[in-house]
Amino acid sequence: MKDFNFEVSTKILFGRNGLEKLSKEIKKHGSRVLLCYGGGSVKKTGLYDKVVENLKENDIFFVDMPGIEPNPRVESAIKGAALAKENNLDFILAVGGGSVIDCAKLISVAALTDANPWDIVIGKERVKSALPIGSILTIAATGSEMDKGSVITNLETKQKLGWGSPKVLPKFAIMNPEFTYTVPKYHTAAGTADIMSHTMENYFSVDDSAYLQDRFAEGILKTMIKFGPIAYNDPENYEARSNIMWANSWAINGLLATGKTQEWSVHAMEHELSAYYDITHGVGLALLTPNWLRHILDDETVEKVRTFGKNVFEIELTDDKFADANKAIDALEKFFKDEMHIPMSLREVGIDEEHLEEMASNTIKHKNGNVKGFKELSKEDVYEIYKMSL
Ligand code: NZQ
Ligand code: ZN
Repeated sequence: MKDFNFEVSTKILFGRNGLEKLSKEIKKHGSRVLLCYGGGSVKKTGLYDKVVENLKENDIFFVDMPGIEPNPRVESAIKGAALAKENNLDFILAVGGGSVIDCAKLISVAALTDANPWDIVIGKERVKSALPIGSILTIAATGSEMDKGSVITNLETKQKLGWGSPKVLPKFAIMNPEFTYTVPKYHTAAGTADIMSHTMENYFSVDDSAYLQDRFAEGILKTMIKFGPIAYNDPENYEARSNIMWANSWAINGLLATGKTQEWSVHAMEHELSAYYDITHGVGLALLTPNWLRHILDDETVEKVRTFGKNVFEIELTDDKFADANKAIDALEKFFKDEMHIPMSLREVGIDEEHLEEMASNTIKHKNGNVKGFKELSKEDVYEIYKMSL
């Protein structure tokens, strides 16, 4: 196992009553709040009213920042930072999913500098400080409530890029599985795929020295395979929603990445699809992953894919390694397609050949040579995987 540091200090308030403690938690860090949320689901579900009631009862001043888009745009962060500055705010509260939390992270940094927020995303501007952030999670998918990362879209430049800093790690996350009961089926499925993809990006590595982390990963994958379909078919199943919500945090908070080299090729490929076509992140990951695995299957990678089949899908191993590995990949594809009802081709989500080559070269460019875990991809490889996914 390689050496590592692991520090995730986010306080988790998990369960049905966390919201009662909202203002108490905020007051540890600030008193003037930017209340960030998305396109309106929090108003429909009544969560917004409950949050506002809690803030008002506790005399916490707040300013609304509505309308943060799925695949959040840099423009929203610019707007949020301006509101924070104008109103002298000292705390950012994100009520929503990964998009709202990711945008809140950029706002928290941009509020304390005159730099252009996009320069923070592209790394031109260093993160020097950030306002404290808290979150109330409403969809299990990205793990953003307990990680240091954020992904921001710039439609003008057709870029969707990840950035991160320990300074934007949320101070607390209120995680009530009941808040996810209203997540539409499509997003429940996409969230399931995203959680599984984070786990697989860490898991699929030729470095097997972190045995424990790989067993944690298999546990998360099995949890998703068991509870994803239950949440899909029975949205108010607390056991399913709670297991998924907790799996979501541990898939990407750094635990699975400790002590080993990691991959993250599929995310790089998907972010190009979202940047060009604004598709749902988890759907893009689900449809690319089986084809990525098929494309990179060789003598070096076959053993890990087989182990995945055996330990996650309980596939009995035979003497034919490649047949075993292909069964594992087929099982994964079937799970996404038949159990989670995810569209499994690019055409189904409105993507044709037009930009495939361009997106393939951008994938390699944006990965910044960060290919070290499983199989190095060239532009031609990515293009091939996109074509297999049409
Ligand atoms: O905008 P509203 O109206 O709130 O609706 C949202 C949105 O349409 C809806 N929703 C959320 N909670 C709901 C609900 N609808 C009903 N009831 C609820 N309780 O669901 C839709 C999707 O929300 P979004 O926040 O976009 O989903 P998600 O959490 O999947 O976030 C996706 C974004 O996170 C990025 C993705 O690329 C994408 O931009 N990622 C962030 C990561 C990170 N910070 O570490 C890592 C990930 O790999 C990912 O790239
Ligand atoms: Zn993801």
